[in-house]
Amino acid sequence: MMGINRRFGNQIPHIVMRLLLKNISRLYSTYQHPPGIISGEAMRQVPALDDAWLACDNGLIADFGTMAEFPGISDWKDLKVMDCSGKSVFPAFADSHTHIVYAGNREQEFADRLKGLSYEEIAARGGGIINSAKKLRECTENDLFDQALVRFHEIIRQGTGAVEIKSGYGLNLESELKMLRVVRRLRDLNIIPVKATFLGAHAIPPEFAANRAGYLDELTERMLPAIAEEGLADFVDVFCEKNYFTSAETTRILEAGAKLGLRGKVHAEQLSHSGGIRAAVKAGAISADHLEFCDAADISALKASGTIPTILPGAAFFLDLQRPPARSMLDAGLPVALASDYNPGSSPTGNMKLMMSMACVMYRFTPEEAFNAATINGAAAMDLQGSVGSVAPGMLANLMICDGPVSLASFPYRFGSELRADLLLKGELFSS
Ligand code: NIG
Ligand code: FE
Repeated sequence: MMGINRRFGNQIPHIVMRLLLKNISRLYSTYQHPPGIISGEAMRQVPALDDAWLACDNGLIADFGTMAEFPGISDWKDLKVMDCSGKSVFPAFADSHTHIVYAGNREQEFADRLKGLSYEEIAARGGGIINSAKKLRECTENDLFDQALVRFHEIIRQGTGAVEIKSGYGLNLESELKMLRVVRRLRDLNIIPVKATFLGAHAIPPEFAANRAGYLDELTERMLPAIAEEGLADFVDVFCEKNYFTSAETTRILEAGAKLGLRGKVHAEQLSHSGGIRAAVKAGAISADHLEFCDAADISALKASGTIPTILPGAAFFLDLQRPPARSMLDAGLPVALASDYNPGSSPTGNMKLMMSMACVMYRFTPEEAFNAATINGAAAMDLQGSVGSVAPGMLANLMICDGPVSLASFPYRFGSELRADLLLKGELFSS
């Protein structure tokens, strides 16, 4: 097996045209469900086949089944066969909320929080998102790319097979473009699918501190059109929160994005109940994320919508926030997704296995619910349900191959431990 690092860099990746995995002890698939979002009872199961085969062709899953019904090999041309006796195969994680393009770190703020300062107090004295924006504005695009690439490699080694990446540390047109161009360069490496989100509405930048109306105009009339014009974003996001953007401002920004063909996402109800879920639902946003202060009326509103509630346990843990009512959402039949929120301020990790552990232990997800939330529903929360997050013919062959016929519980059970899996990305095998 090749080492994963040899695949990275700017080379065009070599794709094994055809690969057959044989004698897989357990293949976790979604063959009973058409690929797409799942909720309720369907989330409580992850169908599995014992003693299975799976064929990949040109980066995609071609077909799979049980060895008892294996049709045999009719064409050996360019075919690589891998014996997976004693191994289990899972879809790779789909992380629908990250901010991995950033400059430097915020370790000092972490230390300050441990001494008693709150996230809000640190932000009020020019730290937080504004601190990251200062660092990012001083950073060249190439330097930013190099820093982000390290994190990109890191999350892939931890089993992430598709990722959404936000801007939001530029907070002016030039620097937001710089961030989104870095995201595009990561996408163009063609290693895993990457979706880009414009988050210019992450904070009011210092130069507009006395003129928030001016920043709103700048966002909607200048930045959004320029970004859409360059095709640099798939989604538009807003941090709807006290001292950041109001529910009405969120609606305005999401509507401006929608006119340019960008679907919304919202950082909602993270630090207080601020109306982010209502704004997301009203705008037909693809997801509403965080949700610590979500109430019963919000759950009903989500239920009547197509907006995917996305839980980010890393940020809630790291900022020691109150817990979101995730169990109530699952019990209400909502298609909950799980994501890492990898960012320098509230969740400096992109470890999706750890997110599963936190979801199970802190919020009472079952391992199956956590896995579905971190794969199939995460894919849907970035509009990638047709290509990643589940094992089905026609999906990208982005898979984890683990030693032993491991149960789904082994992911959250081994919390904080490294992922012991070989990764298959577009049908090509790596060891992590
Ligand atoms: O998702 N909540 C807002 N944005 C990030 C944190 C950003 C930061 O502190 O740098 C989040 O938690
Ligand atoms: Fe975030």
